[in-house]
Amino acid sequence: MTTAPAPARRRTDWWRDAVVYQVYIRSFADGNGDGLGDVAGIRARLGYLRDLGVDALWINPWYPSPGADAGYDVSDYRAVEPAFGTADEAAAFVAEAHELGLRVILDIVPNHTSDQHAWFRAALAAGPGSPERARYHFRPGRGDGPPNDWRSVFGGPAWTRVPDPDGSPGEWYLHLFDSAQPDLNWDRPEVREEFESILRFWFDRGVDGFRIDVAHSLVKDPALPDVGEEEEHLLASVEGTGHPFWDRDGVHEVYRGWRRIAESYADEKVFVAEAWVSSPERLARYLRPDELHTAFNFDYLTAPWDPAALREVIDRSLASNASVGAPATWVLSNHDVVRHVSRLGRPRAKGWALGDLAPVEQLDLELGRRRARAAALLMFALPGGAYVYQGDELGLWEVEDLPDAVRQDPTFRRTEGAEIGRDGCRVPLPWSGTAAPFGFSLEGTTAPTWLPQPASFAAVTAEAQDGDPGSMLTLYRTALRLRRERASGPLTWLPSEPGVLAFTRDGGFTCLVNLSGAPVPLPADRRVLLATEELDGELPVDAAAWLVHP
Ligand code: BGC
Repeated sequence: MTTAPAPARRRTDWWRDAVVYQVYIRSFADGNGDGLGDVAGIRARLGYLRDLGVDALWINPWYPSPGADAGYDVSDYRAVEPAFGTADEAAAFVAEAHELGLRVILDIVPNHTSDQHAWFRAALAAGPGSPERARYHFRPGRGDGPPNDWRSVFGGPAWTRVPDPDGSPGEWYLHLFDSAQPDLNWDRPEVREEFESILRFWFDRGVDGFRIDVAHSLVKDPALPDVGEEEEHLLASVEGTGHPFWDRDGVHEVYRGWRRIAESYADEKVFVAEAWVSSPERLARYLRPDELHTAFNFDYLTAPWDPAALREVIDRSLASNASVGAPATWVLSNHDVVRHVSRLGRPRAKGWALGDLAPVEQLDLELGRRRARAAALLMFALPGGAYVYQGDELGLWEVEDLPDAVRQDPTFRRTEGAEIGRDGCRVPLPWSGTAAPFGFSLEGTTAPTWLPQPASFAAVTAEAQDGDPGSMLTLYRTALRLRRERASGPLTWLPSEPGVLAFTRDGGFTCLVNLSGAPVPLPADRRVLLATEELDGELPVDAAAWLVHP
């Protein structure tokens, strides 16, 4: 298949093929020795990010937060969490990133605030029927129970009861996530105005864009009808239109307003939607020309390591996004899913939570690493943008044996341990040295890291991989440089052996990925530019290569 040409380009359109590096701030680098990552840590490592060859950084929420959901419970959208730094440090970081040619994307959390946000505190104090409560979803219960059957995606009911100001049992409030994350009522104009003002606040400070948290959930059916489902899975893909809170059509009006704000700036401000919807076609609705610029491609992330499945999701993503003039994006991991080394190293790797995967006894980390190398070359060869989750470039795996006592994900607590949660992909990065904290804490080292690092990280520190021609880090650095130089234009599939993905782009730049069960010969009319393994005339199983005309 050949993709449709992109529409006429406006300004720089830098986001159409950008590689965006996700900085999970609490686990990236710790500048002050308290065991928690921070803005100073990112500033100290900006050179590493420039040298890696990425175009932009997406910073997970850095706002003041009680930390009930690792910063996705925001108590003040216009400030920086003191444990992460100051407003001045944040401003210096944005300026320094720009000097290095790196754009900065923040994370906005519009579905819910923290229960410590001034609005929610005012709502509790003001009592039933007040305009303060109307900013959220407060309702009387049904008998002694909650107003409807909705479940929190972290487990348990999506409603929590609060006492009336006089202390008697009162109304219930809605929280699709943790009880410390009350859902906002997007039918209220002041909620919409507030978030538009927050966007302007950060755009005015030079920020280049926003990743929109659970972008598909803001608008609820005002009747709040029962959904009739046993349990909501975390960010499960659901059929669009009829659902009372996922992917309702009314949400698009919100993003049309946001796009107008972005367009009012002289430099290009962009949005990327986190929207777990039922199909690429539903996702494309968020990417119409007057809405959001890009969206994460979770169909790609969750696709199994299977040639037909991958080809199908690639074709479908390119076609559906092209139908609205939007570029595709590709992503393998993030802070909510099992790291792809650990997914691909299992017999069946469809799904992203530990509960969906084969047991750890069936994990073959070497296989996972080999496939992760091939998956990286495939992703970076595709047209559109790509996301790298911090540590992907080091080949990090899911830390599956964290002791229960250190687990922080609310999912673990709310399901009483039935779901292990997402801590295993959030372990602080190993930078250097042979023992924890592996250079994570730059300034002395007094406090332990907020999640413990395994001793096995010693083999994969950035320092250990730097300059090693066979390392994942070298593969990422080389691939990102060559991608910039060589990978442009639409994708055209080539005839290939069964089980082999083969396509070209402009100028004969070719990508081959061997997902068959046997080595395949390399084409005689091409020269190898980059490969995931040493090649000797053929491409081994689970290997990938980039080729060019000799
Ligand atoms: C974020 C999660 C978070 C949830 C609730 C997700 O989309 O990526 O980390 O727990 O939203 O804010």
